Amino acid sequence: MSTRSYSLSKDKIKFLLLEGVHPRVVENLKNAGYTNIHQESRAMTDAELARALTDVHFLGIRSRSQITESLLDSAEKLNAIGCFCIGTDQVDLHAAQVRGIPVFNAPYANTRSVAELVLAEIILLMRGIPAKNAGAHKGQWLKTAKGSHEVRGKTLGIIGYGHIGTQLGILAEGLGMRVVYHDIVEQLPLGNAEAASSLEAVLESADVVSLHVPDTADTRGMIGASQLAAMKKGAHLVNASRGKVVEIPALAAALENGHLGGAAIDVFPIEPTSPDDEFISELRGMDNVVLTPHVGGSTQEAQENIALDVATKLVRYSDNGSTMGAVNFPQVSLPDHATARRIMHIHRNEPGVLQAINSVISDSRGNVAAQYLQTHEEVGYVVMDIETDDAGPILEGLKKIPATIRRRFLY
Ligand code: NAI
Repeated sequence: MSTRSYSLSKDKIKFLLLEGVHPRVVENLKNAGYTNIHQESRAMTDAELARALTDVHFLGIRSRSQITESLLDSAEKLNAIGCFCIGTDQVDLHAAQVRGIPVFNAPYANTRSVAELVLAEIILLMRGIPAKNAGAHKGQWLKTAKGSHEVRGKTLGIIGYGHIGTQLGILAEGLGMRVVYHDIVEQLPLGNAEAASSLEAVLESADVVSLHVPDTADTRGMIGASQLAAMKKGAHLVNASRGKVVEIPALAAALENGHLGGAAIDVFPIEPTSPDDEFISELRGMDNVVLTPHVGGSTQEAQENIALDVATKLVRYSDNGSTMGAVNFPQVSLPDHATARRIMHIHRNEPGVLQAINSVISDSRGNVAAQYLQTHEEVGYVVMDIETDDAGPILEGLKKIPATIRRRFLY
Protein backbone atom coordinates (compact mmCIF):
# COMPACT_ATOMS: atom_id res chain seq x y z
CA MET A 1 0.00 0.00 0.00
CA SER A 2 1.45 3.35 -0.94
CA THR A 3 1.64 6.44 1.22
CA ARG A 4 -0.92 9.01 0.12
CA SER A 5 -1.43 12.70 0.76
CA TYR A 6 -2.50 15.99 -0.69
CA SER A 7 -3.29 19.52 0.18
CA LEU A 8 -5.88 20.96 -2.22
CA SER A 9 -8.06 24.00 -2.42
CA LYS A 10 -11.72 23.21 -1.77
CA ASP A 11 -12.79 23.58 -5.40
CA LYS A 12 -10.32 20.82 -6.37
CA ILE A 13 -11.69 18.33 -3.86
CA LYS A 14 -13.86 15.95 -5.85
CA PHE A 15 -17.04 14.48 -4.45
CA LEU A 16 -18.74 11.60 -6.29
CA LEU A 17 -22.34 11.02 -5.17
CA LEU A 18 -24.11 7.88 -6.38
CA GLU A 19 -27.56 6.34 -6.17
CA GLY A 20 -29.48 9.61 -6.33
CA VAL A 21 -28.70 10.90 -2.87
CA HIS A 22 -31.07 13.58 -1.54
CA PRO A 23 -30.65 17.09 -3.10
CA ARG A 24 -29.87 18.48 0.37
CA VAL A 25 -26.48 16.70 0.20
CA VAL A 26 -25.28 18.91 -2.65
CA GLU A 27 -26.78 21.98 -0.99
CA ASN A 28 -24.91 21.23 2.24
CA LEU A 29 -21.62 20.57 0.48
CA LYS A 30 -21.93 23.77 -1.58
CA ASN A 31 -22.76 25.79 1.53
CA ALA A 32 -19.50 24.50 2.99
CA GLY A 33 -17.57 25.70 -0.09
CA TYR A 34 -17.25 22.41 -2.01
CA THR A 35 -18.19 22.80 -5.66
CA ASN A 36 -16.48 19.92 -7.46
CA ILE A 37 -19.46 17.60 -7.06
CA HIS A 38 -20.37 14.83 -9.51
CA GLN A 39 -23.66 12.97 -9.24
CA GLU A 40 -25.21 9.79 -10.64
CA SER A 41 -28.77 8.72 -10.03
CA ARG A 42 -27.85 5.02 -10.10
CA ALA A 43 -25.29 2.67 -8.54
CA MET A 44 -22.20 2.08 -10.73
CA THR A 45 -20.96 -1.33 -11.81
CA ASP A 46 -17.72 -2.58 -10.32
CA ALA A 47 -15.74 -1.69 -13.45
CA GLU A 48 -17.28 1.79 -13.68
CA LEU A 49 -16.55 2.43 -10.01
CA ALA A 50 -12.94 1.26 -10.36
CA ARG A 51 -12.44 3.82 -13.15
CA ALA A 52 -14.36 6.61 -11.42
CA LEU A 53 -12.67 6.28 -8.04
CA THR A 54 -9.15 6.98 -9.30
CA ASP A 55 -9.50 10.74 -8.76
CA VAL A 56 -12.31 10.95 -6.19
CA HIS A 57 -11.62 12.37 -2.72
CA PHE A 58 -15.02 11.81 -1.11
CA LEU A 59 -17.54 9.14 -2.12
CA GLY A 60 -21.23 9.24 -1.24
CA ILE A 61 -23.32 6.08 -1.68
CA ARG A 62 -26.51 4.47 -0.45
CA SER A 63 -27.01 0.76 0.06
CA ARG A 64 -26.58 -0.64 -3.46
CA SER A 65 -22.92 0.25 -4.19
CA GLN A 66 -20.55 -2.48 -3.05
CA ILE A 67 -17.20 -1.00 -1.97
CA THR A 68 -14.77 -3.90 -1.89
CA GLU A 69 -11.11 -4.09 -0.95
CA SER A 70 -10.01 -4.23 -4.60
CA LEU A 71 -12.04 -1.12 -5.39
CA LEU A 72 -10.39 0.69 -2.49
CA ASP A 73 -7.03 -0.25 -4.01
CA SER A 74 -7.99 1.71 -7.11
CA ALA A 75 -9.07 4.68 -5.00
CA GLU A 76 -5.67 6.20 -4.21
CA LYS A 77 -7.08 9.64 -3.41
CA LEU A 78 -10.15 8.59 -1.48
CA ASN A 79 -10.35 10.33 1.91
CA ALA A 80 -13.69 9.20 3.27
CA ILE A 81 -16.91 7.41 2.37
CA GLY A 82 -20.35 8.68 3.33
CA CYS A 83 -23.10 6.05 3.42
CA PHE A 84 -26.30 8.07 3.00
CA CYS A 85 -28.31 5.40 4.75
CA ILE A 86 -28.41 3.52 8.05
CA GLY A 87 -26.30 0.41 7.35
CA THR A 88 -22.66 0.13 6.27
CA ASP A 89 -22.53 -3.57 5.31
CA GLN A 90 -21.97 -2.58 1.68
CA VAL A 91 -18.46 -1.28 2.49
CA ASP A 92 -15.46 -3.42 3.44
CA LEU A 93 -14.94 -1.45 6.65
CA HIS A 94 -11.69 -3.08 7.67
CA ALA A 95 -10.10 -2.60 4.25
CA ALA A 96 -11.15 1.07 4.43
CA GLN A 97 -9.77 1.47 7.94
CA VAL A 98 -6.30 0.16 7.17
CA ARG A 99 -6.15 2.47 4.14
CA GLY A 100 -6.97 5.44 6.39
CA ILE A 101 -10.49 5.93 5.04
CA PRO A 102 -13.19 6.65 7.62
CA VAL A 103 -16.73 5.57 6.77
CA PHE A 104 -19.69 7.63 7.99
CA ASN A 105 -23.41 6.86 8.11
CA ALA A 106 -26.58 8.20 9.73
CA PRO A 107 -27.71 5.53 12.17
CA TYR A 108 -30.33 7.59 13.97
CA ALA A 109 -31.70 9.93 11.31
CA ASN A 110 -34.97 7.98 11.03
CA THR A 111 -35.64 7.41 14.73
CA ARG A 112 -38.64 9.72 14.79
CA SER A 113 -40.14 8.16 11.64
CA VAL A 114 -40.12 4.69 13.21
CA ALA A 115 -41.55 5.94 16.51
CA GLU A 116 -44.41 7.75 14.74
CA LEU A 117 -45.40 4.72 12.65
CA VAL A 118 -45.34 2.45 15.70
CA LEU A 119 -47.48 4.89 17.67
CA ALA A 120 -50.04 5.00 14.86
CA GLU A 121 -50.08 1.20 14.68
CA ILE A 122 -50.63 0.93 18.42
CA ILE A 123 -53.75 3.10 18.14
CA LEU A 124 -55.03 1.19 15.10
CA LEU A 125 -54.45 -2.19 16.75
CA MET A 126 -56.13 -1.22 20.01
CA ARG A 127 -59.21 -0.04 18.09
CA GLY A 128 -59.31 -3.22 15.97
CA ILE A 129 -59.04 -1.08 12.85
CA PRO A 130 -56.99 -3.53 10.71
CA ALA A 131 -59.82 -6.10 10.77
CA LYS A 132 -62.54 -3.44 10.33
CA ASN A 133 -60.64 -1.98 7.37
CA ALA A 134 -60.18 -5.43 5.79
CA GLY A 135 -63.90 -6.11 6.33
CA ALA A 136 -64.97 -2.86 4.70
CA HIS A 137 -62.84 -3.70 1.66
CA LYS A 138 -64.80 -6.96 1.39
CA GLY A 139 -68.15 -5.18 1.74
CA GLN A 140 -68.62 -5.95 5.47
CA TRP A 141 -69.82 -3.31 7.95
CA LEU A 142 -68.16 -4.31 11.26
CA LYS A 143 -69.64 -1.47 13.29
CA THR A 144 -69.07 -2.43 16.90
CA ALA A 145 -67.23 -1.10 19.97
CA LYS A 146 -66.44 -4.65 21.08
CA GLY A 147 -62.69 -5.07 21.52
CA SER A 148 -62.06 -1.37 20.71
CA HIS A 149 -60.07 0.55 23.29
CA GLU A 150 -58.55 3.96 23.77
CA VAL A 151 -54.82 3.83 24.37
CA ARG A 152 -55.12 6.28 27.25
CA GLY A 153 -54.36 4.51 30.52
CA LYS A 154 -53.11 1.32 28.80
CA THR A 155 -49.63 -0.12 29.28
CA LEU A 156 -47.05 -0.04 26.50
CA GLY A 157 -44.16 -2.47 26.98
CA ILE A 158 -40.98 -1.48 25.14
CA ILE A 159 -38.25 -4.06 24.61
CA GLY A 160 -35.00 -2.26 23.77
CA TYR A 161 -35.03 1.22 25.27
CA GLY A 162 -32.55 2.91 22.91
CA HIS A 163 -33.02 5.76 20.45
CA ILE A 164 -36.36 4.57 19.06
CA GLY A 165 -37.66 2.95 22.25
CA THR A 166 -37.15 6.11 24.33
CA GLN A 167 -38.68 8.36 21.65
CA LEU A 168 -41.71 6.07 21.36
CA GLY A 169 -42.09 6.06 25.14
CA ILE A 170 -42.24 9.86 25.27
CA LEU A 171 -44.79 10.06 22.43
CA ALA A 172 -46.94 7.31 24.00
CA GLU A 173 -46.95 9.09 27.36
CA GLY A 174 -48.24 12.15 25.54
CA LEU A 175 -51.33 10.06 24.75
CA GLY A 176 -51.68 9.01 28.38
CA MET A 177 -50.13 5.55 28.11
CA ARG A 178 -48.15 4.00 30.94
CA VAL A 179 -44.71 2.91 29.70
CA VAL A 180 -42.64 0.00 31.02
CA TYR A 181 -39.45 -1.14 29.37
CA HIS A 182 -36.77 -3.79 29.38
CA ASP A 183 -33.20 -3.32 28.21
CA ILE A 184 -30.04 -5.32 28.85
CA VAL A 185 -28.21 -2.07 29.56
CA GLU A 186 -29.32 0.09 32.47
CA GLN A 187 -31.08 3.00 30.76
CA LEU A 188 -32.22 6.24 32.30
CA PRO A 189 -36.04 6.30 32.22
CA LEU A 190 -37.42 9.28 30.30
CA GLY A 191 -40.66 10.92 31.35
CA ASN A 192 -42.57 8.61 33.69
CA ALA A 193 -41.39 5.35 32.10
CA GLU A 194 -40.48 2.54 34.46
CA ALA A 195 -37.77 -0.07 34.00
CA ALA A 196 -39.21 -3.57 34.42
CA SER A 197 -37.32 -6.26 36.31
CA SER A 198 -37.19 -8.60 33.29
CA LEU A 199 -38.42 -9.26 29.76
CA GLU A 200 -41.14 -11.49 31.22
CA ALA A 201 -42.33 -8.70 33.52
CA VAL A 202 -42.91 -6.49 30.45
CA LEU A 203 -44.66 -9.26 28.52
CA GLU A 204 -46.98 -10.05 31.44
CA SER A 205 -48.01 -6.46 32.17
CA ALA A 206 -48.30 -4.79 28.74
CA ASP A 207 -51.43 -4.30 26.63
CA VAL A 208 -49.16 -3.78 23.66
CA VAL A 209 -45.51 -4.82 23.32
CA SER A 210 -43.19 -3.04 20.89
CA LEU A 211 -39.74 -4.37 19.97
CA HIS A 212 -36.79 -2.02 19.42
CA VAL A 213 -33.71 -4.20 19.81
CA PRO A 214 -30.83 -4.70 17.36
CA ASP A 215 -30.21 -7.95 15.50
CA THR A 216 -27.80 -9.89 17.71
CA ALA A 217 -27.26 -13.54 18.66
CA ASP A 218 -29.29 -12.79 21.83
CA THR A 219 -32.23 -11.10 20.15
CA ARG A 220 -32.72 -13.57 17.30
CA GLY A 221 -35.86 -15.53 18.17
CA MET A 222 -36.22 -13.68 21.49
CA ILE A 223 -40.01 -13.59 20.94
CA GLY A 224 -41.12 -17.19 20.37
CA ALA A 225 -44.02 -19.38 21.50
CA SER A 226 -43.33 -19.17 25.25
CA GLN A 227 -42.84 -15.36 25.25
CA LEU A 228 -46.05 -14.93 23.24
CA ALA A 229 -47.86 -17.21 25.70
CA ALA A 230 -46.59 -14.99 28.55
CA MET A 231 -48.31 -11.94 27.00
CA LYS A 232 -51.76 -10.92 28.25
CA LYS A 233 -54.70 -12.44 26.38
CA GLY A 234 -55.80 -10.02 23.69
CA ALA A 235 -52.54 -8.02 23.81
CA HIS A 236 -50.87 -6.76 20.63
CA LEU A 237 -47.33 -7.09 19.30
CA VAL A 238 -45.47 -4.56 17.17
CA ASN A 239 -42.14 -5.33 15.53
CA ALA A 240 -40.37 -2.61 13.55
CA SER A 241 -36.90 -3.65 14.71
CA ARG A 242 -35.30 -6.59 12.91
CA GLY A 243 -37.00 -9.51 11.22
CA LYS A 244 -35.36 -12.39 13.06
CA VAL A 245 -36.33 -11.12 16.53
CA VAL A 246 -39.81 -12.72 16.26
CA GLU A 247 -40.50 -16.35 15.35
CA ILE A 248 -43.17 -15.75 12.75
CA PRO A 249 -44.78 -19.24 12.80
CA ALA A 250 -45.24 -18.93 16.58
CA LEU A 251 -46.74 -15.45 16.13
CA ALA A 252 -49.10 -16.70 13.43
CA ALA A 253 -50.24 -19.47 15.78
CA ALA A 254 -50.81 -17.05 18.69
CA LEU A 255 -52.88 -14.79 16.42
CA GLU A 256 -54.84 -17.68 14.93
CA ASN A 257 -55.77 -19.21 18.30
CA GLY A 258 -56.90 -15.78 19.55
CA HIS A 259 -54.34 -15.41 22.33
CA LEU A 260 -53.05 -12.21 20.73
CA GLY A 261 -55.48 -9.54 19.58
CA GLY A 262 -53.37 -8.31 16.68
CA ALA A 263 -49.92 -7.44 15.41
CA ALA A 264 -48.12 -4.89 13.26
CA ILE A 265 -45.00 -6.22 11.59
CA ASP A 266 -42.62 -4.13 9.45
CA VAL A 267 -39.59 -6.43 9.30
CA PHE A 268 -39.34 -10.10 8.39
CA PRO A 269 -36.77 -12.91 8.61
CA ILE A 270 -36.69 -13.02 4.81
CA GLU A 271 -37.62 -9.89 2.88
CA PRO A 272 -37.94 -9.50 -0.89
CA THR A 273 -34.86 -7.87 -2.36
CA SER A 274 -36.70 -6.23 -5.25
CA PRO A 275 -40.27 -5.02 -5.88
CA ASP A 276 -40.62 -7.89 -8.40
CA ASP A 277 -40.06 -10.59 -5.75
CA GLU A 278 -43.13 -11.97 -4.02
CA PHE A 279 -43.46 -11.27 -0.30
CA ILE A 280 -44.06 -14.60 1.41
CA SER A 281 -45.18 -14.85 5.04
CA GLU A 282 -47.43 -16.97 7.27
CA LEU A 283 -49.03 -13.67 8.33
CA ARG A 284 -50.47 -12.88 4.90
CA GLY A 285 -54.26 -12.92 4.84
CA MET A 286 -54.71 -12.29 8.59
CA ASP A 287 -57.14 -9.41 8.98
CA ASN A 288 -55.90 -8.42 12.44
CA VAL A 289 -52.31 -7.95 11.27
CA VAL A 290 -50.79 -4.80 9.75
CA LEU A 291 -48.03 -5.79 7.33
CA THR A 292 -45.68 -3.11 6.02
CA PRO A 293 -42.67 -3.58 3.72
CA HIS A 294 -39.84 -2.42 6.05
CA VAL A 295 -40.82 1.22 5.78
CA GLY A 296 -40.60 2.16 9.48
CA GLY A 297 -37.81 4.63 8.80
CA SER A 298 -38.73 5.51 5.22
CA THR A 299 -39.96 9.09 5.11
CA GLN A 300 -38.93 12.21 3.23
CA GLU A 301 -37.94 13.77 6.54
CA ALA A 302 -35.66 10.85 7.37
CA GLN A 303 -34.04 11.10 3.91
CA GLU A 304 -33.42 14.77 4.51
CA ASN A 305 -32.02 14.10 7.99
CA ILE A 306 -29.69 11.47 6.53
CA ALA A 307 -28.52 13.96 3.88
CA LEU A 308 -27.80 16.58 6.49
CA ASP A 309 -26.18 14.21 8.98
CA VAL A 310 -23.77 12.44 6.61
CA ALA A 311 -22.91 15.56 4.55
CA THR A 312 -22.09 17.37 7.81
CA LYS A 313 -19.86 14.51 8.94
CA LEU A 314 -17.96 14.55 5.61
CA VAL A 315 -17.53 18.33 5.74
CA ARG A 316 -16.39 18.23 9.38
CA TYR A 317 -13.82 15.57 8.51
CA SER A 318 -12.56 17.46 5.48
CA ASP A 319 -12.50 20.89 7.11
CA ASN A 320 -11.63 20.12 10.66
CA GLY A 321 -10.47 16.50 10.98
CA SER A 322 -13.30 15.38 13.29
CA THR A 323 -14.16 11.72 12.89
CA MET A 324 -17.12 11.56 15.28
CA GLY A 325 -19.67 9.11 13.95
CA ALA A 326 -17.16 7.14 11.82
CA VAL A 327 -18.00 3.45 12.11
CA ASN A 328 -14.51 2.07 11.43
CA PHE A 329 -12.15 4.70 12.75
CA PRO A 330 -10.75 6.29 15.93
CA GLN A 331 -13.26 8.94 17.03
CA VAL A 332 -11.89 12.45 17.50
CA SER A 333 -14.05 15.52 18.07
CA LEU A 334 -12.04 18.65 17.42
CA PRO A 335 -12.46 22.34 18.16
CA ASP A 336 -12.12 24.86 15.33
CA HIS A 337 -8.60 26.09 14.66
CA ALA A 338 -8.46 29.77 13.97
CA THR A 339 -4.79 30.58 13.55
CA ALA A 340 -2.54 27.51 13.62
CA ARG A 341 -2.11 25.13 10.64
CA ARG A 342 -3.92 21.87 11.26
CA ILE A 343 -2.32 18.70 9.98
CA MET A 344 -3.80 15.23 10.22
CA HIS A 345 -1.78 12.06 10.20
CA ILE A 346 -3.12 8.52 9.88
CA HIS A 347 -0.71 5.73 10.65
CA ARG A 348 -0.44 2.05 11.41
CA ASN A 349 -0.73 1.67 15.16
CA GLU A 350 2.89 0.78 15.95
CA PRO A 351 5.10 1.79 18.89
CA GLY A 352 7.11 4.99 18.50
CA VAL A 353 5.01 6.75 15.85
CA LEU A 354 3.99 9.68 18.05
CA GLN A 355 7.61 10.21 19.02
CA ALA A 356 8.62 10.18 15.34
CA ILE A 357 5.88 12.73 14.52
CA ASN A 358 7.01 15.05 17.32
CA SER A 359 10.63 14.80 16.14
CA VAL A 360 9.59 15.85 12.61
CA ILE A 361 7.79 18.88 14.02
CA SER A 362 10.60 19.99 16.31
CA ASP A 363 13.20 19.43 13.55
CA SER A 364 11.10 21.77 11.36
CA ARG A 365 10.95 24.36 14.17
CA GLY A 366 7.18 24.05 14.42
CA ASN A 367 5.42 24.61 17.73
CA VAL A 368 2.62 22.22 18.62
CA ALA A 369 -0.31 24.35 19.85
CA ALA A 370 -2.56 21.31 20.29
CA GLN A 371 -2.40 17.61 19.54
CA TYR A 372 -5.19 15.02 19.51
CA LEU A 373 -4.56 11.31 19.29
CA GLN A 374 -6.88 8.34 19.14
CA THR A 375 -5.98 4.80 18.24
CA HIS A 376 -7.88 1.76 17.10
CA GLU A 377 -6.35 -1.69 17.17
CA GLU A 378 -4.66 -1.24 13.79
CA VAL A 379 -4.83 2.47 13.02
CA GLY A 380 -3.79 5.61 14.85
CA TYR A 381 -5.11 9.09 14.08
CA VAL A 382 -3.31 12.26 15.14
CA VAL A 383 -4.45 15.81 14.48
CA MET A 384 -2.04 18.63 15.28
CA ASP A 385 -2.43 22.40 15.35
CA ILE A 386 1.00 23.75 14.54
CA GLU A 387 2.34 27.27 14.73
CA THR A 388 4.75 27.47 11.86
CA ASP A 389 5.63 29.75 8.95
CA ASP A 390 6.07 26.85 6.54
CA ALA A 391 4.23 23.56 7.13
CA GLY A 392 5.54 22.00 3.88
CA PRO A 393 8.67 20.43 5.43
CA ILE A 394 6.54 18.95 8.21
CA LEU A 395 4.32 17.16 5.70
CA GLU A 396 7.42 15.94 3.85
CA GLY A 397 8.93 14.69 7.12
CA LEU A 398 5.71 12.91 8.09
CA LYS A 399 5.68 11.15 4.72
CA LYS A 400 9.02 9.53 5.57
CA ILE A 401 7.75 7.91 8.79
CA PRO A 402 7.41 4.24 7.75
CA ALA A 403 4.06 3.71 9.54
CA THR A 404 2.41 6.66 7.74
CA ILE A 405 -0.75 5.77 5.80
CA ARG A 406 -1.91 9.27 4.96
CA ARG A 407 -1.39 12.90 5.98
CA ARG A 408 -2.72 16.23 4.80
CA PHE A 409 -3.43 19.86 5.70
CA LEU A 410 -6.88 20.78 6.84
CA TYR A 411 -8.69 24.05 6.29
P1 NAI B 1 -30.39 1.60 19.61
O1 NAI B 1 -29.07 0.93 19.49
O2 NAI B 1 -30.45 3.04 19.92
O3 NAI B 1 -31.26 0.83 20.75
C1 NAI B 1 -31.31 -0.57 20.88
C2 NAI B 1 -31.50 -0.89 22.34
O4 NAI B 1 -31.71 -2.31 22.48
C3 NAI B 1 -30.27 -0.55 23.19
O5 NAI B 1 -30.64 0.23 24.30
C4 NAI B 1 -29.74 -1.92 23.62
O6 NAI B 1 -29.12 -1.92 24.88
C5 NAI B 1 -31.02 -2.74 23.63
N1 NAI B 1 -30.80 -4.18 23.57
C6 NAI B 1 -29.83 -4.84 22.89
N2 NAI B 1 -29.97 -6.18 23.09
C7 NAI B 1 -31.06 -6.33 23.89
C8 NAI B 1 -31.70 -7.47 24.44
N3 NAI B 1 -31.26 -8.71 24.22
N4 NAI B 1 -32.77 -7.27 25.25
C9 NAI B 1 -33.22 -6.00 25.51
N5 NAI B 1 -32.65 -4.90 25.01
C10 NAI B 1 -31.58 -5.06 24.20
O7 NAI B 1 -31.17 1.26 18.27
P2 NAI B 1 -32.39 2.05 17.65
O8 NAI B 1 -31.91 3.11 16.76
O9 NAI B 1 -33.36 2.38 18.72
O10 NAI B 1 -33.00 0.92 16.68
C11 NAI B 1 -33.68 -0.21 17.21
C12 NAI B 1 -33.95 -1.22 16.11
O11 NAI B 1 -34.77 -0.64 15.11
C13 NAI B 1 -32.69 -1.72 15.40
O12 NAI B 1 -32.80 -3.11 15.21
C14 NAI B 1 -32.75 -1.05 14.06
O13 NAI B 1 -32.13 -1.84 13.06
C15 NAI B 1 -34.26 -0.99 13.83
N6 NAI B 1 -34.67 0.00 12.85
C16 NAI B 1 -35.69 -0.32 11.99
C17 NAI B 1 -36.13 0.57 11.05
C18 NAI B 1 -37.26 0.23 10.15
O14 NAI B 1 -37.33 0.77 9.04
N7 NAI B 1 -38.15 -0.63 10.54
C19 NAI B 1 -35.50 1.89 10.90
C20 NAI B 1 -34.50 2.18 11.92
C21 NAI B 1 -34.11 1.25 12.84
